[in-house]
Amino acid sequence: MKLAVVGGGSTYTPELVDGFARLRDLLPIEELWLVDTDPERLRLVGGVSERMFRAAGHPGRIVATSDLVAGVADADAVLIQLRVGGQAARHGDETFPHACGCIGQETTGPGGFAKALRTVPVVLSVAEAVRKHAKPDAWIVDFTNPVGIVTRALLQEGHRAVGLCNVAIGFQRRFAGLLGVAPSDVALGHVGLNHLTWERSVTVGGRDVLPDLLGTHLPQLAEEIELPASLIRLLRTVPSYYLRYYYAHDEVLREQLDAPTRAEAVQRVERELLELYADPSVDTKPEQLAQRGGAFYSEAAVDLLASLTGDRGDVQVVNLRNDGTLPFLPDDHVIEVPAVVGASGVRAVEVPALPDDLAGLIGHVAGYERLALDAAVHGGRDRVLRAMLAHPLVGQYDRAEKLTDLLLAENRAHLAWA
Ligand code: G6P
Ligand code: MN
Repeated sequence: MKLAVVGGGSTYTPELVDGFARLRDLLPIEELWLVDTDPERLRLVGGVSERMFRAAGHPGRIVATSDLVAGVADADAVLIQLRVGGQAARHGDETFPHACGCIGQETTGPGGFAKALRTVPVVLSVAEAVRKHAKPDAWIVDFTNPVGIVTRALLQEGHRAVGLCNVAIGFQRRFAGLLGVAPSDVALGHVGLNHLTWERSVTVGGRDVLPDLLGTHLPQLAEEIELPASLIRLLRTVPSYYLRYYYAHDEVLREQLDAPTRAEAVQRVERELLELYADPSVDTKPEQLAQRGGAFYSEAAVDLLASLTGDRGDVQVVNLRNDGTLPFLPDDHVIEVPAVVGASGVRAVEVPALPDDLAGLIGHVAGYERLALDAAVHGGRDRVLRAMLAHPLVGQYDRAEKLTDLLLAENRAHLAWA
């Protein structure tokens, strides 16, 4: 098969390549095309990727190119993992909301909204190239954030797309480790929207072992998601660490005001990584990559691609159309839940009715996401303001106005309509 990775010059790519090499029986890649607008990154990341394949004895060919059309031509699947504006734009997302007493985050709140506005048009234009030049039944796997909004943009335009995030596979591996079972034996009751999810059950051999897990490992799990154990006990579910931006908003804001941004930290790691990628003796995934947030990204991507192209029909957590799974959301909304994955696509597994607090927050954020996508597609200050006001972390009109002005000032270079 031919696989194209758009945003292939990302320092994350060797994480993927490592997975492709280790799991090559699951996903037989003949050609891996790395597509990126940055020629220097392509050279370095392409070089180390090539050495990794050779060192692992992978027979696949790797091609690095800035030519999107050549990259996606006749591809069986295309993975999109781009970042419009790079870490510099991310730094903006992580700081401009502070002026209004709001957390700065690349996928959540006003920062995530800015990222959506920059990203949706670019991903849609990449997807048009896929529609024109890739194989007619090619799948798009979207890892580009904000994954929920971007995936919905793709589906709305009729693309064969599935959104992917590593939060669920992270929990699956963590729980499997604590229980001493294989990850594939662990089925998560994972529910919500991308980066707004809860683990409501952990099923092993047909039995929900979440109560046992919380009985034995609650303090540890609470520490890992940086939320109080008493909150997990109260909810009887494990929120993802992205819920911290809601449940502990003011605490996170205080921490952020005293610390460098994640973008700055990532820039440092990236400099080190790129130096290593430039070293001709480096032919394995460097340890420093573990400092990035992408743990198990490659396993998740290989699992998803293997099932979409090989029709395995197994259950994986993905971002897909709601279609009644969460009855309080529109059918065309994109949710993140376990789904059966095969060659004909993804079908959500039934979700038990949600308690009011979870449903309420999901509904609120979904309302924002719909307005945010409308603003990303059609542009205009009023649309931005309306979506900003609808975000549960914003809510007040004067704040929404100020945040809108800041967002637009910060992102003008990336918004065709502004
Ligand atoms: C997790 C999230 C991704 C996000 C990443 C950020 O993996 O699921 O959606 O992109 O963290 O990691 P970084 O190293 O860039 O902070
Ligand atoms: Mn994610």
